[in-house]
Amino acid sequence: MNIEINGRTVACHEGETVLAAASRAGIQIPHLCAMENSSVPHASCRVCLVEVEGQARLETSCTMKVREGLSVRTHSPRVLRIRRNIVELMLASHPDDCLYCERSGDCELSRLAAGMDIRGRRYGGGSKGHPVDVSSPAIVRDPNKCVLCGRCVTVCHDVQGIGAIDYTGRGFGTFIRPGADSGLDVSDCVFCGQCVRVCPTGALREKSAFAGLVDALADPGTRVVAQIAPAVPATLAAELGLRGVPEALGLLSGALRRIGFDAVYDTAFTADLTVMEEAHEFLDRLEQGGPFPMFTSCCPSWVRFVELHRPRFIGNLSTCKSPQQMAATLIRKRSAEPGRRLFSVAVMPCTAKKYEAVEVGDLDAVLTTRELGPLLEKFGLRFDADLEPAELDEPFAEASGGGRLFGGSGGVLESALRTAAHLKGESGKLSPSVLTPLQGDERLRTFTVTLGGRELRCAVVSGLGAARALLEQVEAGTLPLDFVEVMSCPGGCIGGGGQPRSVSEGGLKALRVKIRDADRREKLQGAHENRAVIRLYEEVFGEAGSRKSHQWLHRGYTDRSERP
Ligand code: FES
Repeated sequence: MNIEINGRTVACHEGETVLAAASRAGIQIPHLCAMENSSVPHASCRVCLVEVEGQARLETSCTMKVREGLSVRTHSPRVLRIRRNIVELMLASHPDDCLYCERSGDCELSRLAAGMDIRGRRYGGGSKGHPVDVSSPAIVRDPNKCVLCGRCVTVCHDVQGIGAIDYTGRGFGTFIRPGADSGLDVSDCVFCGQCVRVCPTGALREKSAFAGLVDALADPGTRVVAQIAPAVPATLAAELGLRGVPEALGLLSGALRRIGFDAVYDTAFTADLTVMEEAHEFLDRLEQGGPFPMFTSCCPSWVRFVELHRPRFIGNLSTCKSPQQMAATLIRKRSAEPGRRLFSVAVMPCTAKKYEAVEVGDLDAVLTTRELGPLLEKFGLRFDADLEPAELDEPFAEASGGGRLFGGSGGVLESALRTAAHLKGESGKLSPSVLTPLQGDERLRTFTVTLGGRELRCAVVSGLGAARALLEQVEAGTLPLDFVEVMSCPGGCIGGGGQPRSVSEGGLKALRVKIRDADRREKLQGAHENRAVIRLYEEVFGEAGSRKSHQWLHRGYTDRSERP
């Protein structure tokens, strides 16, 4: 089908919006509330208006579907005038603190205004004067900076199936906030941060941990150490055009050392340790008869979702701490220096890891991938400048390919199955019927694998909306399962709420490739081959699932369904 945009013939697909067709043709129509891959446009901002030949009324291009013979003008004088007026009205009650805003230089509203040559305030609505919600350990909500685009509502309701925030009020009294105007800490929010990733302004942002960190780095009496999650170097490699994960890890390690970190560890090491404990726990459950399905517990938003919304499944969660928290415990117990305070930092693709650190302990700060650039800038460094790579620090430097896979959806289960097969004396390659769903990118994948003569029903799910649907089937008895990996963010940690806002659906594909490549490049395939992990069991734990490993590496959960 062909339509005409600004006098040019543009080929388009049936069912496509004018906004999408124009974008493919290289015509960028300004828009605010529309999001990539969102099937439910709110059409709340009206910024994407276009003129349609033969009709007086302007149409929103994000909702208007293409049709044969359609002719639109995207940048006519009338459209430009009205669009500019819409943005000016948004600015009327927006605070003027752009200089100090966390999104300074990266604000979509500010970019829109600049693109329309708006250089002053024409309408005076005054600041909204609402209190900033800092109640959550992970996310800050500033209603004064909200432009009511509704992206956060769409993501929270339609993608994640949580509905922690919604529109309330009418007219000038319209706001987006948690139910009963409570703080995020006592709302249904699971701190996944997907709302933060899509917010165009500074209305939703991660809670910064810079203040304590910068002081610690300047203090010679403090040993400052970092651990880096597997999704982070994969992201840096893609963003900086590096060959792969090892090169990005080296660069990041070098950068953190330059700004004063004493040691940099690899969280993929404790991903291997998690697999050792989790595979053992699963085999133990097979012997004890359940409870099934066993759910992975690496993702703090998923854990909080179960505690808040489905506490009857608490017993199904693996009791293993996440790799972040296992590393935090090991660092606290094995990496402290006599006479120096320890300041332990985790670099994660996730906002909920900030919450997990507060909940489980042993960490002083969690930085998201997004916060790395601004942290380096504080010390006058940039990733794209000349930085010397550095090795990661022993004893938490070695990782198997399985550990590297933790960055993407399916990786935890694949790694656990590799080690479970080894423990059952059935090492070898997983069959294509298992690998294909493990390595796919659908939000829910199911498959069976035979282990110790028993057929196991497995599932991989990413995105809490898909996880909730899966739980409903498990509850109804229509989807019997034994072992399930759940990641709250679509695509797994690479799609985490702390990842750069530039990571799109297409970007996720590139990150999956980096993670698979990192797995292939590791000499060791499974967690059970990791020599440093084997040494740790010899020196500290004895064996997986031992009393000592339960003291250090496992955790309990709380039924939070009766929260205030
Ligand atoms: Fe179309 Fe907001 S982008 S109405």
